[in-house]
Amino acid sequence: TRVAGVVGLPITHSMSPILHNAWLAAAGIDGIYAPFSTQPGRFRAFAESLRGGSVAGLNVTLPFKGEALALADEATFRASAAQAANVLVFREDGSILADNTDGLGMLAALAEQAPGFDPAGGPVVVLGAGGAARGAVAAFVEAGGPEVRIVNRTLARAQEIADGLGARAFPLSDVAAAFDGAVAVVNATSAGLSGSAGLEVPIEATPAGAVVMDMVYKPLKTPFLAQAQAHGRRTVDGLAMLIGQAIPSFEYFFGQTPPKSVDVRRLAIEAL
Ligand code: ATR
Repeated sequence: TRVAGVVGLPITHSMSPILHNAWLAAAGIDGIYAPFSTQPGRFRAFAESLRGGSVAGLNVTLPFKGEALALADEATFRASAAQAANVLVFREDGSILADNTDGLGMLAALAEQAPGFDPAGGPVVVLGAGGAARGAVAAFVEAGGPEVRIVNRTLARAQEIADGLGARAFPLSDVAAAFDGAVAVVNATSAGLSGSAGLEVPIEATPAGAVVMDMVYKPLKTPFLAQAQAHGRRTVDGLAMLIGQAIPSFEYFFGQTPPKSVDVRRLAIEAL
């Protein structure tokens, strides 16, 4: 039996076990994907205890993504660029590989829900300057478009990411300038999470063909996406990104592509 899992704090509401276990069952793989919870000071010891052992790999979620990168022996370019890992692979030789599949998940979500969208087809805008935003900026920079723009309430945080990754920073007060000519706008702020007020930005300042995405998936239609739809923009939700990051994770842990025969999106929506 091959074991993998997800570790975070809190972990009880993680959707990942639903996705991975449904894929395991549909593929007929003898595997288990389990949620793990650990106290903040105990994450490193937990991960170290799995070296060369019986767990194939872990997805890592908040607040451990930075620590996960730091403890790994080797990291992919995209994990280093994001300064965060959402995947740890425990190799048979005892070493740990860190990767970050969140950026892939974001690009997969855009490709799936906005068919024809080209991430290199024009300027793209990332709202926010936390860990999620850094990963998105790194993925867009790698995609090779003309300009990646980071908009944040606290300009200094956006400027730091922009300087490190080759993007351009804007203060939230200048968001309309950042929207000018943009082909995509991705909300990577925590505004719009269940219960909090949505981000108030002038979506109408984007070109009519711009694609608007939110990384938050609870609720599935965030106030930000509702506002974008009201202005007729194509929208992409955070659940597509969650599934998009889980697919390469599953490939790491179980050595094959998840089966398409099971509708994991429907299962996740039922569990939201
Ligand atoms: P994470 O690492 O999970 O991405 P974070 O580091 O807590 O999250 O960052 C949250 C992001 O949401 C930040 O960019 C924050 O802006 P500041 O850097 O100015 O704090 C942004 N954010 C949160 N609530 C916001 C709000 N109501 N309006 C605008 N931006 C908000």
